[in-house]
Amino acid sequence: MKVLICASEGAPFAKTGGLADVIGALPKALKANGCDVRVIMPFYKRIKDMNVAYYQGYAYVRIGNSMQYLGVFHSIYEGIDFYFIDSDMYFNRDQFYGYGDDGERFAFFDFAVLEAIKVVNFMPDLIHCNDWQTGLIPYVLKTNYHQYPEFNRIKTVFSIHNIQYQGIFPMDMMSILYMPYSSSLEFGGCINFMKTAIMEADSITTVSPTYRNEVLTDYYGYKLNNILGLRYFNFMGIINGIDVDKYNPETDKHIFKNYSLKNYVEGKKANKKALLEEFGLDPNEDVPLFGLVSRLVVQKGIELLMPVIDDVIINSNAKFILMGSGDKIYEDFFRQLEARYPNRFKCYIGYSDPVAQKIYAGCDIFLMPSKFEPCGLGQMIAMRYGSLPLVRETGGLKDTVIPYNQFTGEGTGFSFTNFNAYDFKEVMYLAIYLYNNDKEAWNKLVKQAMEKDYSWNNSALTYLELYNNLVR
Ligand code: GLC
Repeated sequence: MKVLICASEGAPFAKTGGLADVIGALPKALKANGCDVRVIMPFYKRIKDMNVAYYQGYAYVRIGNSMQYLGVFHSIYEGIDFYFIDSDMYFNRDQFYGYGDDGERFAFFDFAVLEAIKVVNFMPDLIHCNDWQTGLIPYVLKTNYHQYPEFNRIKTVFSIHNIQYQGIFPMDMMSILYMPYSSSLEFGGCINFMKTAIMEADSITTVSPTYRNEVLTDYYGYKLNNILGLRYFNFMGIINGIDVDKYNPETDKHIFKNYSLKNYVEGKKANKKALLEEFGLDPNEDVPLFGLVSRLVVQKGIELLMPVIDDVIINSNAKFILMGSGDKIYEDFFRQLEARYPNRFKCYIGYSDPVAQKIYAGCDIFLMPSKFEPCGLGQMIAMRYGSLPLVRETGGLKDTVIPYNQFTGEGTGFSFTNFNAYDFKEVMYLAIYLYNNDKEAWNKLVKQAMEKDYSWNNSALTYLELYNNLVR
């Protein structure tokens, strides 16, 4: 089985969010199960500057009235072949997204991927597209490449990592795109890349079974729920894994002290103490420490923290260490909290892998009150490091965190159902109470969280089964 995975980002080359982690880890698990898998993504300036990719050849695609050059570069990372689409015009820039011509840039990418296949002489059985930036590929394959038998037989899978971002552009973009018009492309009077992919891919997936059901509803579907309904029987949810080699408390070089199931109680204590010290807090490791590592955007439910965190800080002994960047309103809110409670609350505005890993290892409770969460990786990383996630029951959070049951002692974390700050607060108090008053129950939850399997293997097998069903 030969599979080409396409995406706009992939770790360790380019990362803004969880998509990059998936593109960095899933191929390894597919390969371990016998799949010949390769990845293709844009050659951003940042990747160019790494100086790890070698020139393979070139091609042209038509955009508007000109033929646009694309170079193809190649690199091998942890045994996986990565191809990069070079374009001085579209990708040699500091940021990956956020430009006025993003629609044109990723349309170009989609056309370029299909030409790059010829350049590198890797004819896949299946192309696995991810998120809107790759959304035109299934359509262009069916239309422009229809008459080439070796292309005509290629199957396509489209994975939705976040339905909120759809790639919506004015209809007049059609005039520069060299492809026929079809109603598949149009939604609400605009070109919609994600809708196109949902209509045209052979199979659609998203990154958890619960999110799969949620996006079929008005609340979660961001207007595409009825379109997804048309593909109901070709739409499945497959839960993401995490990179269990990178996120391993036993070997992680970034954390203060390595630990495993054998010595997790002392191990976590040592990490908490050092983390508190590093952030300039009193290193008393006997109080509950909340952690959060997140993009600070509406999706992540930071607004639920705003009305209740003062209450929690004033009426309990808990401390907070939070990290992330994003919308100014949330960044300002964090900075003000830090000024208000310098001995209880610290934030790191920005993102750093080593600091994130220290927070995963050092905190007791990891917060993810998301409004929606297609899968979420933070909660799985937290559990692997023995930090108990406190999550809202949505998407992948619901599928991966088993809520604490005070009668049976079952659980790997805490959860609440409604998107409501007071429900959230109650569960924060429950976690604080348990931490302060029942260490035995607490440590049992930590153990249960650390024992679970978060590797990619099972999900990779499910993807392979899907690929095989399509290609057969
Ligand atoms: C997006 C989603 C997140 C998911 C990730 C990888 O970032 O917001 O929930 O884990 O994609 O699929």
